[in-house]
Amino acid sequence: MQITVFLGAPGSGKGTQAKKLSQKKTFIHLSTGDMLRAAIKNNTSLGQKAKAFMDKGELVPDDLVIQLIKETLSQLSSNQHILLDGFPRTVAQAEALNANPTTQVQRAILFEIPDNLLVERLTGRRVCTQCGHPFHIKHMPPKSEGMCDACGGQIVQRSDDTENVVKKRLDVFHSQNKGLVDFYSKKNALHKLDANLPADQVEGLLIGILQ
Ligand code: AP5
Repeated sequence: MQITVFLGAPGSGKGTQAKKLSQKKTFIHLSTGDMLRAAIKNNTSLGQKAKAFMDKGELVPDDLVIQLIKETLSQLSSNQHILLDGFPRTVAQAEALNANPTTQVQRAILFEIPDNLLVERLTGRRVCTQCGHPFHIKHMPPKSEGMCDACGGQIVQRSDDTENVVKKRLDVFHSQNKGLVDFYSKKNALHKLDANLPADQVEGLLIGILQ
């Protein structure tokens, strides 16, 4: 199994790029945020436990998220290339992946962008309730207002994309990111990219790293 992890602040474009790449069919995109939102929507026991943390912009406890990702990876075949978007978020999560010889990370790609641009990106983000495709009211508006270009689903604002929760999510990101950067630097697996470029240029940089 080949594993690439996307690191970066909320709103840095991880999900946008992971969805673009997985549409090309060569990668499997796993987003712990999407998986947790699905658990909340389906009112599972995991969803009930995760909701209060996510509503406040805090991280869901490591043991719950590690269990979720371990179970998911164990169901995939060993010749697949996985893009992990939003996992690991803590050094404990990175160590849990690293502890299993079959889930070693080949590349960790850090999406770099200044914080002041992220609040605008996130408060302007809209997502499809059916397929999760992200839009932006200014930078990437849907062709028809309120309707997803990809599947025709309804487009809404995520409940944690309000200004106060976004600021908390950014604080949480900064409290954890240095540890992760150090972890993957020591393994010579870290690549940094300028996530403040237009999405097509970010995609080009990513393809260069992934080849
Ligand atoms: P999660 O869903 O992972 O959210 P996040 O990391 O905060 O990331 P986002 O989805 O907000 O941002 P993104 O980088 O994917 O940006 P996007 O591509 O959409 O996690 C949510 C919550 O779940 C967490 O707060 C936590 O509670 C919990 N959780 C998840 N994983 C966890 C874990 N491992 N451990 C513990 N808890 C966990 O882009 C953003 C906007 O910008 C969009 O509108 C997009 O259209 C626009 N945009 C994208 N690229 C560009 C560009 N190049 N130029 C201009 N605009 C762009």
